[in-house]
Amino acid sequence: KMNAFISNLMSKMTVDEKIGQLNLPSSGDITTGQANSSDIGKKIRNGEVGGLFNIKGVEKIAAVQKVAVEESRMKIPLLFGMDVIHGYNTVFPIPLGMSATWDMYAVEKSARIAAIEASASGINWTFSPMVDISRDPRWGRISEGNGEDAFLGSAIAKAMVKGYQGDLKSNNQILACVKHYALYGAAEGGRDYNTTDMSKVRMYNEYLPPYKAAVDAGAASIMASFNEVDGIPATGSKWLMTEVLRNQWGFKGFVVTDYTGIPEMIAHGMGDLQTVSALALNAGVDMDMVGEGFLGTLKKSLAEKKVGIEQINRACRLILQAKYKLGLFENPYKFCDVKRAETEVFTPQNRQASREIAAESFVLLKNQNNLLPLKKSGTIGLIGPLVDNTANMYGTWSVAALFDKSVTVLQGMKNALGENAKILTARGSNFLADSTMENRYVNIHNKTYVRDSRTEEELIKEAVNVAKKSDVVVAVLGEGSEFTGESSSVTDIQMPETQKKLIKELMKTGKPVVLVLFTGRPLALNWENENVPAILNVWFPGSEAGNAIADVLFGDVNPSGKLSATFPQNVGQVPIYYAHKNTGRPLADGKWFEKFRSNYLDVSNEPLYPFGYGLSYTTFGYGDIKLSSNTLTKGKSITATIAVTNNGKVGGKEVVQLYTRDLVGSITRPVKELKGFQKIYLKAGETKNVTFSLSEQDLKFYNSDLKFVAEPGDFKVFIGSNSRDVKEASFSLK
Ligand code: IFM
Repeated sequence: KMNAFISNLMSKMTVDEKIGQLNLPSSGDITTGQANSSDIGKKIRNGEVGGLFNIKGVEKIAAVQKVAVEESRMKIPLLFGMDVIHGYNTVFPIPLGMSATWDMYAVEKSARIAAIEASASGINWTFSPMVDISRDPRWGRISEGNGEDAFLGSAIAKAMVKGYQGDLKSNNQILACVKHYALYGAAEGGRDYNTTDMSKVRMYNEYLPPYKAAVDAGAASIMASFNEVDGIPATGSKWLMTEVLRNQWGFKGFVVTDYTGIPEMIAHGMGDLQTVSALALNAGVDMDMVGEGFLGTLKKSLAEKKVGIEQINRACRLILQAKYKLGLFENPYKFCDVKRAETEVFTPQNRQASREIAAESFVLLKNQNNLLPLKKSGTIGLIGPLVDNTANMYGTWSVAALFDKSVTVLQGMKNALGENAKILTARGSNFLADSTMENRYVNIHNKTYVRDSRTEEELIKEAVNVAKKSDVVVAVLGEGSEFTGESSSVTDIQMPETQKKLIKELMKTGKPVVLVLFTGRPLALNWENENVPAILNVWFPGSEAGNAIADVLFGDVNPSGKLSATFPQNVGQVPIYYAHKNTGRPLADGKWFEKFRSNYLDVSNEPLYPFGYGLSYTTFGYGDIKLSSNTLTKGKSITATIAVTNNGKVGGKEVVQLYTRDLVGSITRPVKELKGFQKIYLKAGETKNVTFSLSEQDLKFYNSDLKFVAEPGDFKVFIGSNSRDVKEASFSLK
């Protein structure tokens, strides 16, 4: 039915109208009035626009849709896209934080709520999930992804697509767009938009799986990345867009470029606008975001036989199919229900979900002598530039966030404490010592960074006085929202210098200090880890930040987040990741340095906090692994069972993680690979047997011919509470 409908429609369209469907301008001019808004209106009337993005508000969207369906010749409805990355008005933790929940139900739920709120506001297409694997905390966009691991990343990709799209039948399900295909997170030196270069074996095994998982889950669209892959910009790579994506993976949706991805190929050195536009279309790209290379040059290229009409037809058909699947031809205003916008957005239920999920994303990095949880009594010194800072609770890409409506840390603490305890506050520092540096990060939310006019010395003095009067100090420090995200790469991943100075002075008072750390990337926290007794990493928690932080600080919620990206000891260890290769000269276990071994002179090979790490207010004991058999026969499966006991006095959640190691392979294999995880709840004193099933499928990898195979031989299986602290057993695949 769909194909017949679209064929009929396309038979009536001119080539110009078909090319128009491939054009995706940003509607910045309509919403902000910066440019001539009638320009886009004119284009829509002329049939030169397939979709718009960044237009906010259901009435505005309905008005623009009306122009498309009533004033253009073909009356084809528009797609309305937006970067709904970690929530719409109700903001959830940044994706790196979401991934630290290791809770696929929570991940899916956050995407579901985001889809409900966005669709109630007129949006029918989100540029999410971002599934780029990254092992480089220098890269600002590590905050937008799910960390370093392909297995965890794939599970999250699937959950997000499911949450956004469902079956696309109802008016609260929207198109997902998997991005940034491919390898964007492997930019050299962690510098955004930089070159990537890696072996196909690494690509297939370690970087491509999450994109494929999203495609397998039915993602309706995919976004080309800015970077080059194997010497060709992804936007112009036929190998990526057609060979891998469509021929190998069977992708049926449409490909959109990233913002001006087509004209950027001119700077990449691939030719003029006409050449690069033809390159993209022929590669398999269907929609041109903002570049207007398709709109401006494809007709000429068609006449000169640089592109074929079948390529234009292919792209146009795929975009029309997406609109059809959304139900826009039946009802172009399906997502423009003003009542829904009033009742389904930023609801108490959605905020409650955000609060619970945020608390689950926090990672307790250190808790010496059980300093946490805190008592709800006495005097608490709440110190730092993030204490009462509404705008910085959200983190990057919070385009629909209500900037004055987040719950700050101060507010959350007040809500939790009522009259039971006294709170004293001090700003303690500006974010960075150097306001010019600080301003460099401030490219979007100018109001986010209001500097205090006092000198750093004055701010510290006030903070120290507050600390002296307090029973416990909670230092709320770290990064501001825009320190990570797009175009926010750094070469130094330590806490900002002024904040370090502040915390050192606070420690000198002798008061117990808890560091509540805001960050969008793994930081090098060596000094803090050695000196500060308790560190709770809260990422950027979203709308309910303060309430969620108070829930965990006071023990109403027991922290259960686990890192999805390794925290290095210093930036020189980057890239550092748990699934590394052994090398021919590995360092013996427990050694720091040995001559002629693979190591550094100045720092051990160990990370500061390994992948999968995170503490709890209780402790979990692991028994020995019991295998149902030591031999796994092809086509069959074995089980690995372990008893996990809550040895403490409070209930808590634990992420039980299973890793394998393939001891001998036709290519070198990682020392550990995550192959399973289960998040379980244990009451105080309770023991549960946790069972994982292992089959040949779990042991498969791409060999040097890029064939997905499992090779018979000996394996190790590890189960534990993080990638370092594990029990092990052995089995073989026959
Ligand atoms: O979706 C984003 C992408 O992640 C980065 N460039 C701009 C796009 C649209 O806003």
